Amino acid sequence: MTAHELYGRESAIRIVEDLVGTGATGGGALMVRGQAGVGKSSILAAARARADARGMGVLSTTGVYSEMDLPFAGLHQLLQPLLADIPGLPALQRDALEGAFGMSDGVAPELFLIALATLELLADAGSRTPVLVIAEDVQWLDPSTSEVLAFVARRVSLEPIVLLAAIRDGWASALGTADLRELRLDPLAIYTMRVDGGDRRLVTRARRSLGALDWQPVR
Ligand SMILES: Nc1ncnc2c1ncn2[C@@H]1O[C@H](COP(=O)(O)OP(=O)(O)OP(=O)(O)O)[C@@H](O)[C@H]1O
Ligand SMILES: [Mg+2]
Repeated sequence: MTAHELYGRESAIRIVEDLVGTGATGGGALMVRGQAGVGKSSILAAARARADARGMGVLSTTGVYSEMDLPFAGLHQLLQPLLADIPGLPALQRDALEGAFGMSDGVAPELFLIALATLELLADAGSRTPVLVIAEDVQWLDPSTSEVLAFVARRVSLEPIVLLAAIRDGWASALGTADLRELRLDPLAIYTMRVDGGDRRLVTRARRSLGALDWQPVR
């Protein structure tokens, strides 16, 4: 489904597309928040499409319930395309990140250095071409990755990095409480939407895919 086929999310799409547009001049961070199935990933997909169209680099990670207890599993997924750049980091940061990813022996992971190393790698990549960082299903990211991304999110305004994250309601996470700008998605009023003209197909599809939410109060 493309962004244009999302029903009733025009303003949310505009917000994330505008944010992606700031990547070239100094970044920003935004947390998309809402209940299960409300449409968070669809909004992130719209942002990704905009970033692709602008030729930005896109790095992403997705929280996975079964990997919540594996420190830095999410960060490893995010930085996979940049692993070759790690040797170019300042020595302390390089050692810390390699230690976190099990690429060297005997280094106890130190969160601050790992966060610095992550910011450095992202900023360096961003200086070549602005970068969109996507963190999906933050509620299931391992806590260490969440801490690192919270650190990065607080500093992106100075870098060509846009960080977009999505989290389900009712879950705690360091990134979820990092005071990012927030985009709240409320359930669509799918049973009270007007069905007319060209919107009929979209409304039908929205009702089908979002039908599980129809017990929610409609706006
Ligand atoms: N505005 C919309 N119009 C039509 N279909 C939509 C809309 N938003 C979401 N959908 C559809 O609803 C389903 C759930 O959307 P999505 O995966 O984006 O929700 P989510 O909030 O990320 O869910 P989760 O909490 O499970 O991650 C998908 O099939 C998606 O295509
Ligand atoms: Mg989702």
